[in-house]
Amino acid sequence: MMLKRPRRNRQSAAVRNLVAETQVSVADFIYPVFLTEGNKKKIAIASMPGIYRFSLDNLLKEIEECANLGIMSFAPFPQISESLKDKYATESYNANGLYMKAISQIKKEFPEVCLFTDVAMDPYSSDGHDGIVENGQILNDETLEILGKMAVAQAQAGADMVAPSDMMDGRIKYLRETLDNEGFKNVGILAYTAKYASAFYGPFREALDSAPKFGDKKTYQMNPANVREALVEAELDCAEGADILMVKPALAYLDVIKTLHDRFDLPIAAYNVSGEYAMIKAAAANNWIDGTKAMIECLTSIKRAGAKIILTYFAKEYALNKT
Ligand code: PBG
Repeated sequence: MMLKRPRRNRQSAAVRNLVAETQVSVADFIYPVFLTEGNKKKIAIASMPGIYRFSLDNLLKEIEECANLGIMSFAPFPQISESLKDKYATESYNANGLYMKAISQIKKEFPEVCLFTDVAMDPYSSDGHDGIVENGQILNDETLEILGKMAVAQAQAGADMVAPSDMMDGRIKYLRETLDNEGFKNVGILAYTAKYASAFYGPFREALDSAPKFGDKKTYQMNPANVREALVEAELDCAEGADILMVKPALAYLDVIKTLHDRFDLPIAAYNVSGEYAMIKAAAANNWIDGTKAMIECLTSIKRAGAKIILTYFAKEYALNKT
């Protein structure tokens, strides 16, 4: 006699769908998109098949296509020409620069879209770091001032939420106060709460030419060995006024997602980063795995772990392929 037969709930697609605990939806996605100078540009990124750097005209078309598929949230990242980069990332708060012009144009044409803007120095820094570099050290408090200017410029351009990806201490409080003082109390903050010093950012750095010119990011990004440290960061971000907590990368950190989900009541986001995307694409291109199935499985695992929101380069592909 066998009273319990778990396979009974797997007998047909109908019953499997009934008992499915996790459902990934296009409404869960924030689509990271790359912006570059110029017109009519759509430049492939070799390590990220299917992902492009768009000039603004083409990015607007891409956003329209995605919105028609139900993707309503976007995280644009700018590729800044080397000649505009400097030690203090001054281009990062230029109201007439590439990024701010794009933000305001996107919001003008698609007011219903939710825009998450990136707050960090690296795309604009001649050192390729997320903070000011002095004698080989990353300065924390001095960097906050630049991040504040960046966030205000982005809010002025129309950002719905700013997303600090820099990992400086005290940045959430600093940005919250700065935004409030400037009259942007309704602009939210998506905190990169637990951002790890990861090998999985390679393709992104290629896309933006933003790799550090020396050293690594280990004095500000977290050690992959740690999960309790993520709780320290999450407590600070909550207390300092974050609206959403994020874990990054996603797949090698599902336990971190789960831990934050169980311990904190703010919505949890996860960044399914460029290297995670590239691995699936590369294996699928070799016919070593079924890329579409692997994509769905990975996205489902991120949601199952506790992330309600997923930043993923798969957003559009998922929207086109979901059954
Ligand atoms: C840097 C930043 C990085 C990513 C987003 N913002 C890379 C880094 O820390 O060097 C990576 C995203 C990805 O790999 O998809 N502020």
